[in-house]
Amino acid sequence: MSKLVSGFSKFSKNEKIKWLASNFFTDVEKGIETLNQYANNNKKLQQLHDEFIENTISNFYIPYAVAPNFIVNGKPFAIPMAIEESSVVAAASLVAKFWSTRGGFQAKVISTTKVGQVHFMYQGDFEKLKKFFESKKPSLIESTNPITANMRKRGGGILDIELRDRTSKLENYYQLHVTFETADSMGANFINSCLETIAQTFEKQASEYLEIEIEIVMSILSNYVPNCLVKAEVSCKVEEFFSENATFYAKKFVEAVTIANVEPYRAVTHNKGIMNGIDAVVLATGNDFRAVAAGAHAYASKDGNYKSLTKAKIENGIFKFWIEIPLSLGTVGGLTKLHPLAKLSLEILQNPSAKELMEIIAVAGLAQNFAALKALTTSGIQQGHMKMHLMNILNQLEANVHEKEIITNKFKNSTVSHNAIAKALHALRTEK
Ligand code: MEV
Repeated sequence: MSKLVSGFSKFSKNEKIKWLASNFFTDVEKGIETLNQYANNNKKLQQLHDEFIENTISNFYIPYAVAPNFIVNGKPFAIPMAIEESSVVAAASLVAKFWSTRGGFQAKVISTTKVGQVHFMYQGDFEKLKKFFESKKPSLIESTNPITANMRKRGGGILDIELRDRTSKLENYYQLHVTFETADSMGANFINSCLETIAQTFEKQASEYLEIEIEIVMSILSNYVPNCLVKAEVSCKVEEFFSENATFYAKKFVEAVTIANVEPYRAVTHNKGIMNGIDAVVLATGNDFRAVAAGAHAYASKDGNYKSLTKAKIENGIFKFWIEIPLSLGTVGGLTKLHPLAKLSLEILQNPSAKELMEIIAVAGLAQNFAALKALTTSGIQQGHMKMHLMNILNQLEANVHEKEIITNKFKNSTVSHNAIAKALHALRTEK
């Protein structure tokens, strides 16, 4: 059998697995057993997952958890998170509890505008193009009416279309820069459908009215959404920050944020930690975490240097810590209501609007960053991290329930490392 294949997507699931097994599995029986173990016994549910994408051969689990005790704008939340990294949910839960006794988190959506662009080439006179565009702009918007009707009923739609001259960056390159309000949906399909219609109308009109034709290169939404922005913050009196040496540690915390603001090597890791919290909730609610991550990192470099997404200061004895982050999210459409766990996540979050979800998710990011910085500026990250990772090591070493209990107790107050656990387990097994 060849390792290359044609017509693969037309194979039945069993045929796909058989082909894969005979070409790539080292242990065919074990490989097939693993795939089957992760397939859902509920045929209807499995079919739903099969049909999300092409060539589905099983499901890939990651843990689904909740971090309780978050207070956001005075309202309590248990935040669902889907993530594989050991310490993320534990850290979120600890931080939620910490801030719940200090007034909780305050969050506010600043703006909700999304963007899409029609990229095109034009070799003629810009003034003529501009005049033509101005005269045709209302008809471009009108051409999308059948697509935007429902969205307009929900308070959304096209906000504006701008002609942008980008020839200073690339010869003959122009854009129709379109802004949208997409209400409670993320709006990717809506935006792309509008853009393609606008592009077709524009191209057709240009061929009738301009001497030199335009060439549409592509029409696509942008995942850079600096005007779909949310802010979340916490604050407390400096002396409430820690039980001991509060002023010293609060100052150190602010320094750590400032370092991430000026040093890109640190900023990337700092923001990665923020995304641990953000992506986990984005994924658990059936939203597009790649889009959110791309937009967040682009926003972190909006000033020309990659910087921290959070800020902190101490002023008049008050410690203040906040995040400003663009989040393009939906609570309707996409997988949000189709994936049963995503739907349940939204139910756990008390069925938020997209704006409320932006606030909750910004809080999850801020909390995660708080946990990381608190650990980094005090005991270091490995103590807590390795404690949480202990179970992974024990599972890797195939420890049984009894062994897990003994080793976990043994390492309650000492440093966890793979080597130390392996040694302790070996000692335990040989001492019998
Ligand atoms: C690990 O996933 C995330 C951290 O590295 C974040 C940070 O350093 O701020 C702990």
